[in-house]
Order: sequence, then structure tokens, then C-alpha cells
Amino acid sequence: MAVSMHLVTERLQLRPWTTADLDALHQLWSDPTTIWWGAHVSLEQTRELLQQIEREGGWWAVEYAGQVVGNVFLRPSHHDPEALELGYHLRSPYWGQGFATEAARALLATTSGKLIEAIVVPDNARSQAVVRKLGFTVGGQRTHAGALHDVWQLQRS
Ligand SMILES: CC(C)(COP(=O)(O)OP(=O)(O)OC[C@H]1O[C@@H](n2cnc3c(N)ncnc32)[C@H](O)[C@@H]1OP(=O)(O)O)[C@@H](O)C(=O)NCCC(=O)NCCS
Repeated sequence: MAVSMHLVTERLQLRPWTTADLDALHQLWSDPTTIWWGAHVSLEQTRELLQQIEREGGWWAVEYAGQVVGNVFLRPSHHDPEALELGYHLRSPYWGQGFATEAARALLATTSGKLIEAIVVPDNARSQAVVRKLGFTVGGQRTHAGALHDVWQLQRS
């Protein structure tokens, strides 16, 4: 996937994060409802995340009506070099509109012949609903950051 690629869906624009997005990324990552496992309390933490995003690739800013409303990534899996990992995070005022599913579906459509994984804690009902709608099924469990997660999988043909 070309790094400079932009994707347009019915309601959203997906584009790579850039260094100019520090404030927008911080607004997303300091929202404690969204980043429930450890929202950022300083801009420095977000600066480090932006550097991680540049290193990893596969992270996309999700824009709606000219505003950054979230993030979606389809990045190389940290566990399986052959697989990609899907993740999504929306600013909490934008939940309940189908944006995460719409953004993830567009990104998945750019892949073929790949195993896609999503690592979800069993009580994250909203996230489970997203992967279910996208056709993922639970393929196992994995301890990640000290907590047991379901490993949801989708084999793209
Ligand atoms: C996970 C997360 C992205 C899901 O957000 P979400 O808004 O619930 O998910 P979707 O974008 O798919 O939206 C689905 C909802 O939009 C509603 N919806 C409204 N209009 C819609 C439309 N046009 N199309 C589809 N769904 C629509 C659906 O009915 C559903 O609402 P409900 O949950 O009240 O039934 C969000 O909860 C989040 O950011 N959580 C914190 C971060 C996180 O846990 N990430 C995952 C880590 S594994």
C-alpha cells in the first residue's frame, strides 16, 4: 500500500497522519473515553506516538466534514510477520454513527491474500460489534499488555 494513498468513503476521508496533526492526534489520544487504557496527559506522549506512527506505517487519520474524528490502522502485526493488525479509535462524540466500521471496511478492501487480526478485550462490546460486522471471527486468545484479549481474524481472499 502506497504511503501517500488517500481513501474516500461515503462520508469519510482517510489519509496518512503527518507531523502537522500533533494537536488533532492529541485531542483523540487524550480523550479518556476513547483511550480508556491510558489517555495521554501530555503533548510529549503524543509526539512519541506520532513518531511510532511514522516508523510503523499503516495508520490513517479519519476525517469527517473536515475534522479529524479518529484513527484507523492496518499495520504489520507485532506477532505474525505475515499478518496485518486492524485497530480503530474514534473521538467519543463521534461514536454511534458507523464511522469506525466504514473506515475499517475501506481499508480492508485495499488488501488481498492477507490474514487480518484484531485484538479485542472480551468486554469491549463496541469493538466486538465492529469486527463482527466486518466478518471477523474469534480465532484464539492472547495476553496483551497484561490482559487477556480475543484474537479476531479475517482471511482476505
Ligand atoms: C470501538 C469504537 C471505534 C466503535 O465505535 P462505534 O461508533 O460504536 O462503532 P461504529 O462506528 O461501527 O458505529 C456503530 C454504531 O453506529 C450506529 N450507526 C448510526 N448510523 C450508522 C450508519 N450510517 N452506518 C452504520 N452504523 C450506524 C450503529 O447502529 C451502531 O450504534 P450502536 O452501537 O448504538 O448500536 C469506539 O467505541 C471507540 O473508539 N472505542 C475506544 C477505542 C477502542 O476501544 N478501540 C478498539 C480497541 S480493540
